[in-house]
Amino acid sequence: MRLISTKICKTSDIGVNNNLFGGVMLAWLDEAGGIMAAELCCSPNMITLKMDEVLFKKPVKVNDHIRIYGQLLNVGNSTVSLYIEARRFCFDTFEEETVCSTKMLYVKIDKNGNSSPINLLVKEKLINSIK
Ligand SMILES: CC(C)(COP(=O)(O)OP(=O)(O)OC[C@H]1O[C@@H](n2cnc3c(N)ncnc32)[C@H](O)[C@@H]1OP(=O)(O)O)[C@@H](O)C(=O)NCCC(=O)NCCS
Repeated sequence: MRLISTKICKTSDIGVNNNLFGGVMLAWLDEAGGIMAAELCCSPNMITLKMDEVLFKKPVKVNDHIRIYGQLLNVGNSTVSLYIEARRFCFDTFEEETVCSTKMLYVKIDKNGNSSPINLLVKEKLINSIK
């Protein structure tokens, strides 16, 4: 798995029960997945088509450092499917604990917002990377 980004839970990210608001975590996952999809497909024009079930396994509190990792699962003509996992980093033990995970599908689009094929060489490279 590849580290995509790190987020710090701020007081402004907290919901009504002193935990990170779920919608903020969804935005973090979506942003991280979009970054990875763009890097993999060599295109900034990637759009979220689908987010699978999201399990919020552990609460996230203020000042938690959340590392978001991704793994390429599948490559289509215009799509990449990614596994995205958020982990809390513990500064005392240097250990990471999974707090949330999901699967996401991103589509490459053209300037009109329609699906557009991933460059063939890029696609081949991606397919080889998951064989
Ligand atoms: C992304 C979008 C352009 C795709 O439109 P579309 O008409 O489904 O496009 P296509 O039929 O060409 O399909 C494109 C790809 O999506 C896949 N796809 C479409 N519907 C799917 C579904 N329900 N589940 C899984 N894959 C699906 C197709 O299989 C195809 O994959 P491939 O090119 O890798 O073979 C369109 O759905 C869209 O604009 N959605 C809004 C996205 C958005 O705004 N996201 C931000 C979050 S709100």
